[in-house]
Amino acid sequence: MIEIIISFLKYLKIFQKFTKRGIYLSFFLTTIAGLTEGLGIILLLPIVQSISGNVENNETLISKFIFLFLENFNINNSYGVILFLITLAFIIKAFLIFLTYSYNSYLKGKIIKDLKKKIFSSFSKISYQYYLQNNIGDLTNIINEQVNLSVRGFNSLYTVGLRAINCIIYLIFACLLAGKTGLLAIFGSFIILFLFRWLNTATKIMSINTSKANSRLANLTIESLQAFKYLKATDQFSIKVDEAEKTIKELSDYQTKTSILEGFTNACREPIAVVVVMSILFVQLYFINKPIDSLLISLILFYRGLISTLGVQGSWQKTQEYLGSFEIVLNNLKSLANNYESNGKQIINNFKYIEFSNVFYKYTNKDSYSLENLSLKIPAKKSIAFVGSSGAGKSTIANLICLLLKPYKGDINIDKINLQNIDKNSWRRQIGYVSQEMAIFDNTIGYNISLNKNYKNDKKLFFKIKENAKKANIHDFIETLPDGYETKVGESGLRLSGGQKQRIFIARELFRDPKILILDEATSSLDTLSEKAIKKSIDLLNGKITIILIAHRISTIKDSDFIYVIEKGNILEKGKYSTLKSKKDSFFNHLISSQKL
Ligand SMILES: Nc1ncnc2c1ncn2[C@@H]1O[C@H](COP(=O)(O)OP(=O)(O)OP(=O)(O)O)[C@@H](O)[C@H]1O
Ligand SMILES: [Mg+2]
Repeated sequence: MIEIIISFLKYLKIFQKFTKRGIYLSFFLTTIAGLTEGLGIILLLPIVQSISGNVENNETLISKFIFLFLENFNINNSYGVILFLITLAFIIKAFLIFLTYSYNSYLKGKIIKDLKKKIFSSFSKISYQYYLQNNIGDLTNIINEQVNLSVRGFNSLYTVGLRAINCIIYLIFACLLAGKTGLLAIFGSFIILFLFRWLNTATKIMSINTSKANSRLANLTIESLQAFKYLKATDQFSIKVDEAEKTIKELSDYQTKTSILEGFTNACREPIAVVVVMSILFVQLYFINKPIDSLLISLILFYRGLISTLGVQGSWQKTQEYLGSFEIVLNNLKSLANNYESNGKQIINNFKYIEFSNVFYKYTNKDSYSLENLSLKIPAKKSIAFVGSSGAGKSTIANLICLLLKPYKGDINIDKINLQNIDKNSWRRQIGYVSQEMAIFDNTIGYNISLNKNYKNDKKLFFKIKENAKKANIHDFIETLPDGYETKVGESGLRLSGGQKQRIFIARELFRDPKILILDEATSSLDTLSEKAIKKSIDLLNGKITIILIAHRISTIKDSDFIYVIEKGNILEKGKYSTLKSKKDSFFNHLISSQKL
């Protein structure tokens, strides 16, 4: 019992962060509703007494109060008025309950809104490094599924409070009417809560297992749908279906077990209450010999009180089912907050160079360094190229330039300002980054280039979109589509070819008017003609902005101001194209000759 109260107060305090004091207003309204109903039931007493003829037997405090009240208003003999008052009490109660429920719906909406907003904005604040350690399915499951379950947890927790208030009110009224025998009922209530304790633990364990299984299912769904084409084309879907079926079976087993436990509590409610009430009646009739009229009324109250006690148990059990989810949400919010990206204050405007000094970088789940003792300088407004084998560390360098990753050892400075002191947002706003991972959104082509939904109504904006689509050599293709720039591309650009997606991505990054343009294998899916057209547009930017080119194809980087050949996380060779080419046995020459084949 004490455990329940402590736990109840703990969770109430946490939810209070979202509902503020609103939850107490709900409880206050519930108390008034309970008192009104209790008074309504007690008003039956004068009627029952006058029927049984025991009018003088008003020895308990509450019956004295009722009779005094009725006499005061001179209605002690008017059954009509008393019956009207009873009806009124129940109508007022119903109205208050309606008010409480409506208010509670508002509170629930507020919790959902605040939690989802907080989680979404927390996602955006975590570091890229922490993002890499996480599972997208887990994060999606939290915002979509677990938050909704948490709100149900709040609802259940509130119901526990509501039923506890009712239970206390009924039992107090009943005790006031029945005297000492009432203690028996209170004792009965404690026994009930004690006996049903194990159900709470079992339900909570089930709830945590359900949440974990839900996360696994979300993961499986996301990865299977993302790899749909591959799984279908190679007839490997059945592997994922088997995995999913196992998880779904687990989920349904947990669901069944939880429902059986709930059913058990519900079924026990009535017989247990009847046993306790009958015991009270037995003691009252055989040992105390009290008049039956006030006893009858108190029995109604006892019965309701005991049903409420079991209701407290039932709701608490249900709360356990959902609190697993709420804890997952809270723990996630905590770990997201612990992994927010740190930010400096120095705003970078017109930078002169980016400098890497003895940079080591190791991904969290890796033993070896992906970059090792790397030092280089990228001057502004120059075009710098990185070539090298797959896995050499080129994209890792690009990520470090965007300050997405922090060096394990060594330093990155922009104009002598250390990366720790740089306002990362101000730096990133200047970057256009066509990364190897495609970033296409489920919206129109126009939106995908401008990330602005209102581009159609803004002539200047639309013109700029078209200009950049032309530079990315995709405008002509867009014009052939029946809906033009209004064409929806589907999730992850499903309805576009690989090269079309790349060109839309390039158009977006050009649209941003970047001061640094990073092109990481940006034209790898394009034919030579298309690549040449884009190269022409990029060449026009030479000397105006900093261009960082990463490519396997040497022809792509031929005209760069400076070339770094990266191997195993370090610089193997560097220099201008002509210099590198002139060294006969260089790795660079080896790359060129291998591509001529
Ligand atoms: N998220 C990650 N977690 C763990 N290791 C990673 C991660 N990303 C890259 N690596 C490792 O870091 C090394 C460098 O990877 P990087 O992506 O920088 O190579 P790259 O030169 O861009 O290769 P590619 O030409 O194939 O794109 C590789 O050994 C790779 O396995
Ligand atoms: Mg790469």
